[in-house]
Amino acid sequence: MKFLVTGSGGLIGNQLISDLDKIDQTIYSCYNDALPLKGIPIHLDLLNLDEITTIFEKIKPDVVIHLAALTDVELCESNPKLAYMINTTATEKIAKESEKLGCFLIYLSTDYVFDGKNGMYDEKNSSNPLNEYAKTKLYGEKAVEKYNTKWSILRTSTPFGNHPTRKTFPKWIVENLKSKKSLNIVEDQFTSPTYVPNLSKMILEVSMSNLEGLLHLSGSTRISRYEFAKLISEQLDLDSSLLNPIKMENISWKAKRPSDSSLDISKAISILKEKPYSIKKSLQEYLPELRNSLPL
Ligand SMILES: NC(=O)c1ccc[n+]([C@@H]2O[C@H](COP(=O)([O-])OP(=O)(O)OC[C@H]3O[C@@H](n4cnc5c(N)ncnc54)[C@H](OP(=O)(O)O)[C@@H]3O)[C@@H](O)[C@H]2O)c1
Repeated sequence: MKFLVTGSGGLIGNQLISDLDKIDQTIYSCYNDALPLKGIPIHLDLLNLDEITTIFEKIKPDVVIHLAALTDVELCESNPKLAYMINTTATEKIAKESEKLGCFLIYLSTDYVFDGKNGMYDEKNSSNPLNEYAKTKLYGEKAVEKYNTKWSILRTSTPFGNHPTRKTFPKWIVENLKSKKSLNIVEDQFTSPTYVPNLSKMILEVSMSNLEGLLHLSGSTRISRYEFAKLISEQLDLDSSLLNPIKMENISWKAKRPSDSSLDISKAISILKEKPYSIKKSLQEYLPELRNSLPL
């Protein structure tokens, strides 16, 4: 099968194209700045709508996995127009081009589409985004539903894992604790942290089995940022007394964050062979890798 993956050099894309490569699929790895490590590299700037059309007409993919997005929540808040162009307008264009070719479109979305008042959201719960990033991602979801007949929308939460340049939460925690720096970590923000290699396998299964519809794909544990950081430090024998629990209201974010955007992943558990990992299992796999990549 011919796969076209946008955002192939990003945190999730980097893992996904490596997993696709292992199962010998033809991968067209779209990038804007960062050259992808696997697949056939294709330059694609989502701000150039004509380029999207040209690439789709040339490649005629069977499956499109649209991961690229403006993911910097603060930047989206200060530049909502740019966020809309990348996360919504380009997604709408990709949805239309996918439909023209009859390909299966998989769109990665976010737990931030929820307002966080309740937590443990399932696929039937109503969305109510609090910030520009989340609004533009939700409009992207609407475009996929509106223009496509074969689609899958996958919402994930706090992805973490290794990446050549992107630093995720656990690595940031470990680096700082190792240099004996104290850190303020929010104790009243809950998500469902997702280990990227586990997420990638679930996305792969969705794409290979043509699983259509809306699906929450995250780790299976609801946890606060502070408890997550404490688990990491305890498991690596680092000094967790350097972690200071603080409240979200004490951080001067421009963009509002949901206080509990944890996801209910019962549907994924019931339909996928690759099951979402608990935080314990994720850290069991990831921390030895992280330990090897850092001079601990
Ligand atoms: N990270 C999170 O916390 C999180 C949480 C839930 C859902 N998600 C969703 O998961 C998906 C993947 O996230 P990620 O964490 O892997 O993202 P990431 O590491 O921030 O990477 C973003 C990707 O988008 C590409 N991109 C940005 N602007 C572009 C443009 N104008 N034209 C073409 N490509 C562009 C980047 O390409 P270049 O590097 O080449 O510029 C990069 O590959 C996103 O759709 C995101 O909304 C992320």
